[in-house]
Amino acid sequence: MENIKSIENEIISKIEKADNERALEEIRISELGKKGRISNILKKVGSLSPAERKEIGSSINTLKKIITEKIREKRDYLLKIEIDTKLIKEKIDVTLPAQIKQQNNGRIHPVSQVLDEISEIFGSLGYELADGPDIESEYYNFNALNIPDSHPARQMHDTFYLSKNNGKKGQSLLRTHTSPVQVRTMEKGKPPFKFISPGRSYRADSDQTHTPMFHMIEGLVVDEEANLGHLKWTLETFLSSFFENNEIKVRLRPSYFPFTEPSLEVDVLCDRSGSTLKIGEGSDWLEVAGAGMVHPNVLKASNIDSKKYQGFAFGFGLDRLAQLKYGIPDLRTLFSGDIRWLKHYGFLALDIPTLARGLKK
Ligand code: PHE
Repeated sequence: MENIKSIENEIISKIEKADNERALEEIRISELGKKGRISNILKKVGSLSPAERKEIGSSINTLKKIITEKIREKRDYLLKIEIDTKLIKEKIDVTLPAQIKQQNNGRIHPVSQVLDEISEIFGSLGYELADGPDIESEYYNFNALNIPDSHPARQMHDTFYLSKNNGKKGQSLLRTHTSPVQVRTMEKGKPPFKFISPGRSYRADSDQTHTPMFHMIEGLVVDEEANLGHLKWTLETFLSSFFENNEIKVRLRPSYFPFTEPSLEVDVLCDRSGSTLKIGEGSDWLEVAGAGMVHPNVLKASNIDSKKYQGFAFGFGLDRLAQLKYGIPDLRTLFSGDIRWLKHYGFLALDIPTLARGLKK
C-alpha cells in the first residue's frame, strides 16, 4: 500500500511538471500503456494470495483511475493555455483600417473622359455627331475651306504630307484640323446643320502645349439665322458647364481663319507657374479654341446657298481642355503611354464624373 501511494505521488508530480501535450502523452504511455508500469504491477497481482490480490488489485485500479483523471485534467489545462495564447497572439484590432488588395484595374484616359463629358454637354444642346477621315486630301483640308494653293495659311499649318496624289483633290495628308468634316458633312446633307465632330489632328509641332497628334472637337451650326451672338453664347455656355464654374475667365480675341469671317480665338485664364496647372487663376491665357462665322466660300464649296444660309463654327483643342480641367501641366505626357501617369490622371470606369455626378475630388 505504501508503495502504491508513493507511486501515485511520483506520477502526479511528473504530470504536474509536464508542460506540453507530448510530455504528457509520454507519461501516459509509460505509466498506463499496455507495457507501462501500472500494467506490469497488475500482471504481478496474479501471484499474490487471494486476500492480498483483492486489496492490492482494488488500490491499483483506483490508482489507474486517479492517474487517468489527472492526465485528462492536465490535458484540458494545456489545451486551454494553448488556446489562450493563440487568442492573445492573434488578436484582431477591428479599429485598424481594412487591408484592401490593390487591384490592377485599367483606367479611362483623360482624353476619353473629356470627350465623353463634352459630347454630353453638346448632346444636351441638341448637337449630333459627325465623323471624317484622319487621312485627308488637300482639297478638304485646305481648298474647300477657302485656303487656295498659294494661300499663306497653308504654311501656318506644319502639315504631314503623304506620297499619294488624288488628282483634282490634291495630295494626301494627315488632316491638320477637324474643319474638313464641316465640308464633308454639309456636302452629304441638307441644312440646317448642328453637329460636333471630335477626332485626331496632326501638325509637326511639339512643346509643353503642342503634340504632333492632338484631338479637336469641331462644331458647326448652319441655318437661316445663326449669328455671332449665338456663337458667343454657345462658347461661354459650353465652357462654364464643362468647367462646372460660372466664374470661369474666358477671353474672346479677334483673329483670322480663312474659313470664318469674322474669326475669333478663345482663351481661358490659368496659372502655369507651378507643378500643376490651375484654372481661373494666375496671368496666363491658354488658347482652347478657334471660332467664327462660316465664310460664304465654305458654304459654296459644300453646295449650300450662302445667300439663304449662314452659320458659325468652332474648333476646340480637346487635350488642352483636359489639361485645364484636370491640372495636367505638360500636354506631351498625355501621349507618353506611361502607366504610372495614367494611374494618377486616369478615371475608373465606374467612377466617371458626369455632369450629373460632379467633378472627381
Ligand atoms: N480649324 C481651326 C484650327 O485648327 C479652328 C477653327 C475651327 C476655327 C472652326 C474656326 C472655326 O485652329
